Amino acid sequence: MSSVNTPATLLLSVIEAAVQAPSSHNTQPWLFRLRPDTVDLVADRTRALPVNDPDDRELVISCGAALFNLRVAAAHAGWATTVEIRPDPQDPDLLASVHLRDGAPVEDLAALLEQVERRRTHRGRFDDEKVAANAVADLREAAEAEGAELHLLEADRRVDVAALVAEGDRLQFADPRWRRELAAWMHHRRKGDGLGVPLLALPVTRLVLSTLDLGASTAAKDRDRVDDSPILAVLSTDDDSAEEWLAAGQALQRLLLVGAGHGLQGGYLNQPCQVSELRPRLRSLIPGGRAPQVVLRLGYPAEGGYPGPRRDVAEVLL
Ligand SMILES: Cc1cc2nc3c(=O)[nH]c(=O)nc-3n(C[C@H](O)[C@H](O)[C@H](O)COP(=O)(O)O)c2cc1C
Repeated sequence: MSSVNTPATLLLSVIEAAVQAPSSHNTQPWLFRLRPDTVDLVADRTRALPVNDPDDRELVISCGAALFNLRVAAAHAGWATTVEIRPDPQDPDLLASVHLRDGAPVEDLAALLEQVERRRTHRGRFDDEKVAANAVADLREAAEAEGAELHLLEADRRVDVAALVAEGDRLQFADPRWRRELAAWMHHRRKGDGLGVPLLALPVTRLVLSTLDLGASTAAKDRDRVDDSPILAVLSTDDDSAEEWLAAGQALQRLLLVGAGHGLQGGYLNQPCQVSELRPRLRSLIPGGRAPQVVLRLGYPAEGGYPGPRRDVAEVLL
């Protein structure tokens, strides 16, 4: 196995693709260390969400999504990759090392690069159109390829999950610490991270979020979101370790990119995973006692969205 020529510009384009990954509250909790022929993925826990995500579970899932984009972009650049998954008790922030080498890149990964820009979190309505059976099969296969499972919820289970989402909305908004944390991640779009808000609306948005309990109205809105989602699904892993969270993130991003190739976009209804007392109840609704990691709605968007802001690559390099 020979080492490869890794020109800096090509490497930077790989990192540029990695940072297009989704992350909770758009915290972008990742850093990258460039070494000869290797990129290390490091968790940036200064960007953690201690109230929303006390165990850094979603933080690691977000890093897993960035890792998958990195693999896609490296394959597109012509590199074969070997991923060393690393959570190491001596260095718990080093999550993975991606070794770049000569050899045939994985073609089906390379082909996903064009979806990296197209994928975005969809918070609006979906068309009524049913998702084609071959697209559903591809989504499931994408999750499985990364060691996770995607469970599509049928009518009775949907009602149960919708009730958990509504309960999650009420519990989260009832907690002033949770509201303040959300308000703190409402940023002006030009800042490059957080949930982008127009500059003039920012003070009012922050004030409303941090002082008012919007639990009931958010729950009602989320019920409508469930009703208009052609697919409501839970992404699960065997277990609940940092390795599994990283796998969940890679599975999430793989299925979102594969979905984008079919014209699908995804949105999140993660409250039942985030609120600790609801997670066991969600777990009981999916087969095999597996660990639920993400609740997703998927469909063909009825209206366009806009891309979330991102920080410059220079800010994520160690
Ligand atoms: C693990 C994870 C959890 C997320 N949870 C939510 C959520 O509960 N609600 C939501 O609207 N978006 C959620 N998001 C989406 C992020 O807010 C979104 O990725 C970020 O704002 C960047 O926007 P983009 O995905 O359009 O690039 C989540 C994303 C990830 C990776």
